[in-house]
Amino acid sequence: MNAFKLAHNALMSRSIDEKITLTNELQQLKETHQLNYQSQHSTQSIQDPGRPQKPDLVRFQSVPKRDGSDTGLIKTIHAICHIEFNAINLALDAVYRFHDMPDKFYQDWIQVAFEEAKHFTLINNYLSNLGYHYGDFDAHDGLWTMTHDTDYDVLARMALVPRVLEARGLDVTPNIQKKFQRSKFKNMVEILDVIFTDEIGHVKIGNHWFHYLCQQRGLDSMQTFDRLVKKHIGEKLRGPFNIEARKLADFSNQELKYLQAL
Ligand SMILES: [Fe+2]
Repeated sequence: MNAFKLAHNALMSRSIDEKITLTNELQQLKETHQLNYQSQHSTQSIQDPGRPQKPDLVRFQSVPKRDGSDTGLIKTIHAICHIEFNAINLALDAVYRFHDMPDKFYQDWIQVAFEEAKHFTLINNYLSNLGYHYGDFDAHDGLWTMTHDTDYDVLARMALVPRVLEARGLDVTPNIQKKFQRSKFKNMVEILDVIFTDEIGHVKIGNHWFHYLCQQRGLDSMQTFDRLVKKHIGEKLRGPFNIEARKLADFSNQELKYLQAL
């Protein structure tokens, strides 16, 4: 079974259930060594990965405001659900898109896709228990936009998607957990613990492959990261950063200093 073809099928599936089933199958095939990673296919840029009709995607500024009220917190749960859904696609895209990486690269990103599908399911089930569904509120497309913008080079993708966007989750999760702890949605604290632990692993994977690629190309990793941040993100990369969690995800002291100086 060809890993790229199966990852592409899962990526383009517009059905939530099917996407999750295909992602779980991919993981299963990986675990039982039934995948080959021979990349002879030509990849295409993907403007719109497979996703259900809802939620409507709107500009970041138009995303519904979330306060500390019950409805505000449900919107927060929905926003996290949306992030997890996108995270499945971005991991699958990393598997599908980039040729000539070691097998371990694809296996790592299949693992990430599998865990993101698990996160999505945890949140989506909880949302259903509360009487809501994924798609009930508008959402924005920031995660996919960055994924799409970095599809020209695996180095740019590794530099910015796991190490900036996913790592952002590590920065903000403890405060979000505090909010849920004080609310009637305490189950979210536990769910976010599971997600947080896995997410450290995902950022770690991003760090590993970013540094691997810098070394392979003879590039200075600090300068390369700085160049890519300036090109794609600019001033928007801001703290506060969760230094402890980022250390666990293998950010070096030099990298943490760079971030703190922003
Ligand atoms: Fe996740």
